Amino acid sequence: DTEIVSVDNHVGNSLSYQRAVDILKNGGVVAFPTETVYGLGAIATDADAVQRIFDAKGRPSDNPLIVHIGNKEDVDKYVVDVPENAKKLMDAYWPGPLTLVFNKRPGVIAENVTPGFETVGIRMPDHPVALELLRKLDMPLAAPSANRSGKPSPTEAVHVMTDLQGRIPLIVDGGRTGVGVESTVLDMTTVPPTILRPGGLTREMIEELVGPVHAESKVSGEDAPKAPGMKYMHYAPESPLYIIQADEIAIQEAVQSLQNEGKRVAVIGPDEFSVTVDEADWYFPVGPLRDQEAMAANLYGAIRQCDLTDADVILAAETEWTGVGAAVMNRLLKAADGKRYTD
Ligand code: TXA
Ligand code: MG
Repeated sequence: DTEIVSVDNHVGNSLSYQRAVDILKNGGVVAFPTETVYGLGAIATDADAVQRIFDAKGRPSDNPLIVHIGNKEDVDKYVVDVPENAKKLMDAYWPGPLTLVFNKRPGVIAENVTPGFETVGIRMPDHPVALELLRKLDMPLAAPSANRSGKPSPTEAVHVMTDLQGRIPLIVDGGRTGVGVESTVLDMTTVPPTILRPGGLTREMIEELVGPVHAESKVSGEDAPKAPGMKYMHYAPESPLYIIQADEIAIQEAVQSLQNEGKRVAVIGPDEFSVTVDEADWYFPVGPLRDQEAMAANLYGAIRQCDLTDADVILAAETEWTGVGAAVMNRLLKAADGKRYTD
């Protein structure tokens, strides 16, 4: 059975951490909060422990995991060839939602963390619970998002419970995560660096510090994806999801026309439209119009709520491909499998 311990209230916290540390040191897996999404951690130097992550998630074993560290200086224990611009990024943005991919130092991180890769992605999460756990453990944690493979990443402990109940021994509950989409994955082995996955740290913030970077194409299927995770169908809701312009008339008309075909419609959209789009069978607000941070924070929860309804179709209002909107739109396009609503 899966146990949940809450570390929100500072009561009994050290016992809760000790339980997590004991499980991890014995080769087990533990779910814990980061500032982006919940992660499912195992000690990154222990191949048997790492294998338990793949088993619990049902994750394809060729998709590499991110290694989490509790101190910036630890990066040199696990990688080689850290370029000058990476040091700038670490100084400015760690701890934070930025994963940097470097060449591996041979023989330190377990082989199955990055199967067949010469590289490893490292990040220092900006969450007090994650940092406390990493420091008490004093070991690196390999940790993908703590969802079953193919589900949206968990932004609350209850999402982890829904997906992994009975499959993992412990969830450390630190409340809702803040950023809500995963970290930006930036490959530092290319010149210029390449954004393999847009995420919580914006391209604008990276370029401000190190100049122009490459980005993998927006449209899936155009190029062979370099972040292997991008090739799998991800974040797929149970009913078809269509992206639609963030315009209340357009959404109202779409809802009506779908309902005329006998379909029940769930809408994911800005707070403001919840009043005007009142014909929708379900309306899940994701924050004020054009507030991309709020949309990032609320999107995965809204997709999970859609899965709990009997909706036949989901309409999700889009945002701009700027700032954290790039990550939001990347995830929405995947959830939609590229589909836009056209009547
Ligand atoms: O915010 C996050 O990054 C969360 C939290 C828990 O830290 N973790 C997360 O991990 O999203 P995961 O495994 O769900 O996604 C990792 C992504 C995948 O797309 C994977 O293919 C890519 O990073 N990745 C990891 N290591 C890589 C490497 N060495 N080269 C290229 N891509 C890599
Ligand atoms: Mg994931």
